[in-house]
Amino acid sequence: MGYYDLKKLEHTGEDKTALEKKHVPYIQAPDKVKKGEYFEVTVTFGKEITHPMGTDHYIQYFDLYADYANLARVDFTPDMKAEATLNVKLEESCKLRVYAFCNLHGHWEGFKEIEVEA
Ligand SMILES: [Fe+2]
Repeated sequence: MGYYDLKKLEHTGEDKTALEKKHVPYIQAPDKVKKGEYFEVTVTFGKEITHPMGTDHYIQYFDLYADYANLARVDFTPDMKAEATLNVKLEESCKLRVYAFCNLHGHWEGFKEIEVEA
């Protein structure tokens, strides 16, 4: 697998790999929200296993997108917990996407569908 490859969750059951468990961005947000009203989006790394944060190995940053529109960039240092809660409002239904970078294990994608009601 190359440096520039984007890794995604490919195993969803018992066969989920240890790398997937600690790198795939886990997005917690409501399934349905009201148009134009703020709601919280919490992103953690990962879901089943907490990604280590040390000078040799850490999550450097993630970008949050609504479909293909960039909403935020969050940078981490090794002294931080790789977790952030952002307040977001949306105008239409979309897929929230998170692209994250681990200095050792590269780029990872996570997403969550959000339905926006008028
Ligand atoms: Fe890693």
